[in-house]
Amino acid sequence: MNKHFLNLGLQPLANNYLRKFSQNQPRYNLNIFFNTKTKLVSISKRIPSKIMFHKNYPYKSSMSKTMIQSFFKLSKEIKKKFKHNYILEIGSNDGALINNFNKKNVIGVEPCSNLALITKKKGYITFNKYWDFKLAQIIKKKYKNIDLIYSANTLTHISDLNDVFKSIDLILSKNGVLIIEDPSLQECIKKTSYDQFYNEHIYIFSCLAVKNIIKKFDLEIFDIKNLSTHGGSLRYYIKKKANKSIKIKPSVKKQLKKETRNGLANFKTYKKFGYLAQKSKHNLLKIFNKLKNDNKKIIGYGATAKATTILNYCDLDNQFIDYFVDTTPDKSNRFIPGKNIKIFKYSKKLLKNIDYIFLGAWNFKQEIFNKEKKYLSKGGKFITHVPYPKII
Ligand code: TMP
Repeated sequence: MNKHFLNLGLQPLANNYLRKFSQNQPRYNLNIFFNTKTKLVSISKRIPSKIMFHKNYPYKSSMSKTMIQSFFKLSKEIKKKFKHNYILEIGSNDGALINNFNKKNVIGVEPCSNLALITKKKGYITFNKYWDFKLAQIIKKKYKNIDLIYSANTLTHISDLNDVFKSIDLILSKNGVLIIEDPSLQECIKKTSYDQFYNEHIYIFSCLAVKNIIKKFDLEIFDIKNLSTHGGSLRYYIKKKANKSIKIKPSVKKQLKKETRNGLANFKTYKKFGYLAQKSKHNLLKIFNKLKNDNKKIIGYGATAKATTILNYCDLDNQFIDYFVDTTPDKSNRFIPGKNIKIFKYSKKLLKNIDYIFLGAWNFKQEIFNKEKKYLSKGGKFITHVPYPKII
């Protein structure tokens, strides 16, 4: 049974950065539910993939040093620990992970043609397609079974999880390993980071939910790692149940126990989260109102999809935030989805004489603080909403 716990209001497509601001940009109700049986947390309104992931998709994984380092570390681990004929990456984006591997051994799957073209041009086999059963059949026919399948921050974007795992099961070799990583529901709850929810993030996974979803396909988690990326993520190592050569590590039981102890199997935890999200909105607005009454100049840093959720939920516009800075070329000179706030290509000059910076990319706080030592040393301050609204 699906139980509702949070309404984030009318939200535009989180990555729809318009060149010209328009109030008429399509908006959809963002409601969040908890499934009492599967323990899966999901949004109710499903936008067709073709509308969200297309030839102008702006998000590039390689924009952050943190992500590049994380992928490099993982590639070293894969090379050391897992024998593989091929590595198939579902959602290969601009190649931040596959760049670390030999071109002959990697297959990328990427539905956004602007991104698929980047890896294709470098000589990587890239299927410019959505991950589904039909594609899995095509790849299997051409490359046989795959020993290692990887997917980061992608499976939570695909509505039909049964099709996702049925397709993986079809193509994963008998002794193959599937590695997936996505934002952790436990971290999201702990930090009241309600902004992890937007139309692309159809699900926020817990280990409890992943275990339930994959068991239908005779898949099981054999190891799990907590990562600091994307505000706290989990990396799940998965195998076929019939493969007894890999032992299940204690980390799996530990994570399941931790999630149960923290109430992730109970609706009341989510109800409280819903209340805390409203409180977070109230307190963030209090900070903005106070600073604006004091005539402070505020800008935003990191025009993330998460920031779209916050600004639209809290109804913060250009009366509060003069502009955003972001390093992504495809976001610059465009507007924050749903809000009349312009995004400029990051340059240090844009931070001059700014009193406060709202941290849209709070998940890269350390990377950003390292970069902005000068701004901070001159008395510049940041505003964040995680784990609760405050000035840093
Ligand atoms: P994400 O949280 O969805 O990964 O998006 C991060 C956004 O923040 C992306 O648009 C790039 C931007 N960004 C900067 O502008 N400067 C930075 O130093 C970092 C790390 C990210």
